[in-house]
Amino acid sequence: MSSFTNQVALVSGAGSGIGRSTALAFAQSGATVMVSDVNDANGQQTVSMIQDAGGQASYIHCDVAHPEQHIAAVAYAVATYSRLDIGINNAGIGGRFARFLDQTIRDWDTMMAVNLGGVFYGMQAQIRQMLQQPEGGKIVNVSSIAGVKGMPMGAPYSAAKHGVLGLTKTAALEFAKKNIRVNAICPVYTHSAMVQDLVNTAPEMEERMRRLIPMGRFGQPEEIAQAILWLCAPENAFCTGQALQMDGGTTAG
Ligand SMILES: NC(=O)c1ccc[n+]([C@@H]2O[C@H](COP(=O)([O-])OP(=O)(O)OC[C@H]3O[C@@H](n4cnc5c(N)ncnc54)[C@H](O)[C@@H]3O)[C@@H](O)[C@H]2O)c1
Repeated sequence: MSSFTNQVALVSGAGSGIGRSTALAFAQSGATVMVSDVNDANGQQTVSMIQDAGGQASYIHCDVAHPEQHIAAVAYAVATYSRLDIGINNAGIGGRFARFLDQTIRDWDTMMAVNLGGVFYGMQAQIRQMLQQPEGGKIVNVSSIAGVKGMPMGAPYSAAKHGVLGLTKTAALEFAKKNIRVNAICPVYTHSAMVQDLVNTAPEMEERMRRLIPMGRFGQPEEIAQAILWLCAPENAFCTGQALQMDGGTTAG
């Protein structure tokens, strides 16, 4: 397992699911973790879980749809721990499950603000800090299999997640010589509150979703977290601009 000792990692949406598992995994690997979320109780619970296990973490409220809250989160990390080495732009929403023509302007605007704007604003704030550090930094953006394939009933979600890959590749190119690596991860259905919400609204979907995955099961948040750590690992210093598909073989065929 890679060591992230002396590194500071900021994880958005770390109060639940993939974000919480990623925060816990970084802390277990020696990083100091800045946990952010809109759900303060859940975010603080993640901090307690890290501290109870002997790790170091702090919480800051950050609604990723608001650029100034990213700036405040990065400033808080730097004021508290003097640096920011890793930015994980994970926070996201599933949106409304609806046919293309039934998606509203409001569905679209909300999705773009959170799932695409949230990543862009986060990257801007993080990269501004990383440029001031000779060691640079690492960023992983959480996209989705819906970022590489279309998603019937989820047009705004799929569009936002495709956009996340555009931001990832562009920033990777612009900052390749600045020691800042930018990658994305594309999970298939993974056990979390988001997928549970979807299954609750359309229970008949669960088996259909499972059948789409060659391994015949959903991912676990801990499995996605380990892949995110791998993308940030010092041993992986030549990897930038990539979208790693964590999908049980879904996009192999
Ligand atoms: N679970 C899956 O099947 C799956 C698959 C592919 C991609 N993803 C992506 O993984 C990421 C994490 O999702 P998850 O499955 O762990 O879901 P989750 O619902 O368990 O966690 C999402 C977290 O983001 C937070 N959040 C929501 N809106 C926010 C906002 N505006 N600002 C800050 N935080 C906000 C929530 O409070 C929650 O803690 C999302 O970007 C999601 O699109 C999930």
